[in-house]
Amino acid sequence: MQNIPHIPVLYREVIECFEDIKDGIIIDCTMGYGGHSSMILDANPNIKLIAIDQDQTAIEFSTNRLKEYGDRVSIRKGRFSVVIKDIINEIGVENINGILADIGVSSLQLDQKDRGFSYESDTLDMRMDKDAPLSALNVVNEYDTLKLEEILLEYGELRNYKKIASFIVQNRPFSSAKELSNATKHLMPRGKKIHPATLLMQAIRIEVNDELGELKSLLQSIEDAKFQDTKVAIISFHSLEDRIVKQTYTRWSKNCICPSEAMRCTCSRDNALGKIVTKKPVTAGVDELKENPRSRSAKMRVFMMDR
Ligand SMILES: C[S@@+](CC[C@H](N)C(=O)[O-])C[C@H]1O[C@@H](n2cnc3c(N)ncnc32)[C@H](O)[C@@H]1O
Repeated sequence: MQNIPHIPVLYREVIECFEDIKDGIIIDCTMGYGGHSSMILDANPNIKLIAIDQDQTAIEFSTNRLKEYGDRVSIRKGRFSVVIKDIINEIGVENINGILADIGVSSLQLDQKDRGFSYESDTLDMRMDKDAPLSALNVVNEYDTLKLEEILLEYGELRNYKKIASFIVQNRPFSSAKELSNATKHLMPRGKKIHPATLLMQAIRIEVNDELGELKSLLQSIEDAKFQDTKVAIISFHSLEDRIVKQTYTRWSKNCICPSEAMRCTCSRDNALGKIVTKKPVTAGVDELKENPRSRSAKMRVFMMDR
């Protein structure tokens, strides 16, 4: 048995979400260490699973972990924004009954100091795909002040974004996340629950991996595919992602697509792609919070596409 480096969040709720899928294919867009994938395969013995990840370490680990399921599993390396389109084209919407995305970084990525995701890291990297061209080194040491301000405000929601950006530009180059977080500590908000550098690290990581762009593109591909009997579950970890998922599901659930300023409805009024299953996001219960403190910010939203 391999040592499992990542405890899947909301695992009971994920299994419950997909338990009524008796056959067909479920796509796990963020396979990571195969936690959700293996649980879904166990709970749904007649389904097949296609699992995606862009991280080579995750691919190698989970190829080994999931080999006991034989040809019930197919693993694809790449960004889910690209791979999902290929899969839909290859196998057709009618064969896909479930889609899961557990967005963000895995515990192993965070804990491996050489990956540069944590504020204690000795490197400044943060790429989920180690072959990707843009790393945190480029963002921190090469972006101009305006561009840095933009990502600190938009992705870190840091009120002090102008001061932080100008401090970084005046004091760079930085070569590790540890050095950057120590140097900027005095400019960071003082929260009781999180380390001062958390939001700075989040902002840089979102930029490096284009995390919001990836999520929007995934949702757009799902929308364009016009699934007829497919459950979509997205787990996100911060308000920026959750907002995108919530607004997209709300739009998908509307029959009328006339612009809000229109005086009267001129559309066919039958445009809804399905129904929102979770009116409020599903969050971790007390037991899970004790077992896995990283689940505290996880929110799952589910949509049933049944057009
Ligand atoms: C939170 S972990 C998923 C953990 C997984 N559910 C489990 O139970 O082990 C997120 C994983 O998704 C991958 N990932 C994040 N964004 C991605 C993207 N746009 N395309 C492909 N993989 C992505 C990361 O590399 C990471 O391994």
